[in-house]
Amino acid sequence: MAGFAQLFRGRLLLLTNTLASGTMMAIGDALEQGREAYVHCGTLEEHQYNWSRTRNMLTVGCFQGSFAHAWYSWLDRQLPGKSVRTVARKVSLDCIVASPFFITTYILGLGTLDRQSFGESWKEIKQKFLTYILADWLFWPPVQTVNFLFVPAKFRVLGVCLSTIIFDTFLSYLKYQYGEKQPEKLQQAGIEETTKEILPSSTMSSESKQEM
Ligand SMILES: *[C@@H]1O[C@H](CO)[C@@H](O)[C@H](O)[C@H]1NC(C)=O
Repeated sequence: MAGFAQLFRGRLLLLTNTLASGTMMAIGDALEQGREAYVHCGTLEEHQYNWSRTRNMLTVGCFQGSFAHAWYSWLDRQLPGKSVRTVARKVSLDCIVASPFFITTYILGLGTLDRQSFGESWKEIKQKFLTYILADWLFWPPVQTVNFLFVPAKFRVLGVCLSTIIFDTFLSYLKYQYGEKQPEKLQQAGIEETTKEILPSSTMSSESKQEM
């Protein structure tokens, strides 16, 4: 166990946090790709697993992990202790400073790795920011309260990372499934007109009404 403890000490902790964050992000994406395969094809085998997507997630996750390391070491140094007041301050600062930062770097980072222009990424940020931040503010305050109350500072980023497996799955969903991606692809394939008719949400209701 001595070797394991080393991972959470001094300079090695930065490396541990960086890799843990990247790995969790990749696992989150893998879970979401599994879910997409299940929803769209019915089986996992028929679906082509997108490795470059997971690799990009790993890269952005590592990048964010090193920032998380810096951010939480600073936060734990500035606000030591576990009084209600301190924990509330930490949770609030986390929501106000860390959330917007991580959302923006997430979209920008993945956009850049996807060879998206800065303008396109910016447009995506404007389009999705509100959804991301609201999801963030629902998910993180209770999770971080537990984290700040019960998890020792050296395990802070790891605690955040483990919670993010759940959240990253959702992030991956937001990034790749939510919004206009699907209609865009169909448009490129030249079947723009039929798109609207085969979208289940619009037809389901009118059809079921006719049947009734
Ligand atoms: C796989 O993911 C990459 C990165 O997000 C994306 O650019 C590419 O279009 C995806 N490939 C397929 C077949 O969906």
